[in-house]
Amino acid sequence: MAAASLKLSVALACVLLLSSAACHGLEVGYYKKTCPRVEAIVRDEVKKFVYKNAGIGAGLIRMFFHDCFVQGCDGSVLLDPTPTNPQPEKLSPPNFPSLRGFEVIDAAKDAVEKACPGVVSCADIVAFAGRDAAYFLSKMKVKINMPAGRLDGRVSNSTEALDNLPPPFFNLDQLVASFAAKGLSAEDMVVLSGAHTIGVSHCSSFVSDRIAVTSDIDGGFANFLRRRCPANPSTANDPTVNQDVVTPNALDNQYYKNVLAHKVLFTSDAALLTTPATTQMVRDSANIPGQWEAKFNKAMIKMGAIDVKTGKQGEIRRKCRVVNH
Ligand code: HEM
Ligand SMILES: *[C@@H]1O[C@H](CO)[C@@H](O)[C@H](O)[C@H]1NC(C)=O
Repeated sequence: MAAASLKLSVALACVLLLSSAACHGLEVGYYKKTCPRVEAIVRDEVKKFVYKNAGIGAGLIRMFFHDCFVQGCDGSVLLDPTPTNPQPEKLSPPNFPSLRGFEVIDAAKDAVEKACPGVVSCADIVAFAGRDAAYFLSKMKVKINMPAGRLDGRVSNSTEALDNLPPPFFNLDQLVASFAAKGLSAEDMVVLSGAHTIGVSHCSSFVSDRIAVTSDIDGGFANFLRRRCPANPSTANDPTVNQDVVTPNALDNQYYKNVLAHKVLFTSDAALLTTPATTQMVRDSANIPGQWEAKFNKAMIKMGAIDVKTGKQGEIRRKCRVVNH
C-alpha cells in the first residue's frame, strides 16, 4: 500500500516535473549491486588527470553538457567517425577541436570494464566524470549525488550538435530558448553558465563579436585580449585564453563577479546582464557565499536527466568510441 502510493506520487511528480531524474528511472547508487566500485574507479581516474592538468577537468564538465544537449545524455559525443558515419558529433564545430577529456573516459571505461564487464554505460561514466571534475576543481565544495542508469545511444550526427548547442554569440532570448528546448529554465542557464569559471576558450570563439567590434566589454580586459589573440584567428593560429582571469582553475563563483565587471569572453556571458531578473541572479551568485555552488549542484543533476534513453532505445557500449555490433 505504502509502496503503491509512493509509485503513484512519483508518477504524479513526473507529470509536473517532466525532466526530473526519477522519471527516467535514474537513481543515485544505481550500480551498487552490479558494480559497487564504479564511482570510486571513475573518481580515481578523474583525479589522476585533473591533478596533472586542471584544464582536462574543465573539458569533462563541458563534455557532460555537450553530451546531454545532443540526443540526450547518452554518450553520443564519444563516438568516433566510421566509414558509414563520417561526421559524428565530436567532429562538429562546437566540439572540434576544442572538446577535451576523451582519454579520461577511455581510461575510466577500461578500468570499469575490468571490474564489471558490460554493466556500466559510457553515458553514466561521462556524468560521473563531470561530477568528479567539479568536485576536485571546487576543492571538494561541489558534491553532487549524481543519479545513474543512462543507456548509450547509437546515433551521433554533427549537424545535430550544431543545431542544439548554443553558440557564444547568442543573446539572452536565444539562450533561454536553447535551454528551454531541453527542459531547463532561465535560472538553470544562468547557474550552469557559471562553469565558465574554469578552462579556456580559443580566440576564434569570441574575437569577431567581442573584440573586433564595440561591445560592453571592459576596456582593459579587451586590450589584454587583443594582445593575446590575432585579429583574425584561423585554424593555424588560434591561441587560447583563460575564461576566468582571476581564479582560472577554481570552480567558484568568480565567474559572476567577472560578469558584473564586464570581464567575460562571450556575448552569451555578457547577456546575463541584459534583463533585471537574470542580473539579480548574477548578483546573488556573486555575493551570497555558497549559493551558486548549491544551485550548480542541483542544475547538474537536472541537466543529467535530459532525454535519457531506456530499454530498446540504448545499449551498454563495450567501447565508448564505437557502438556495439
Ligand atoms: C550558456 C550557453 C553556453 C555557451 C554559449 C557556451 C560556449 C562556450 C564556448 C564557445 C567555449 C570555448 C570553446 C573554445 O573555443 O575552446 C566554452 C568553454 C567551456 N564551457 Fe561553455 N557554453 C555554454 C554553457 C556551458 C555549460 C552549461 C557548461 C557546463 C555546465 C559549460 C562549460 C564550459 C567549460 C568548462 C568550458 C572550458 C572548456 C575547456 O577549457 O576545455 N558551458 N563554452
Ligand atoms: C544528420 O542530421 C541532419 C539534420 O537533422 C539530417 O539532415 C542528416 O541526414 C543526418 N545525417 C545522417 C548521416 O544521419
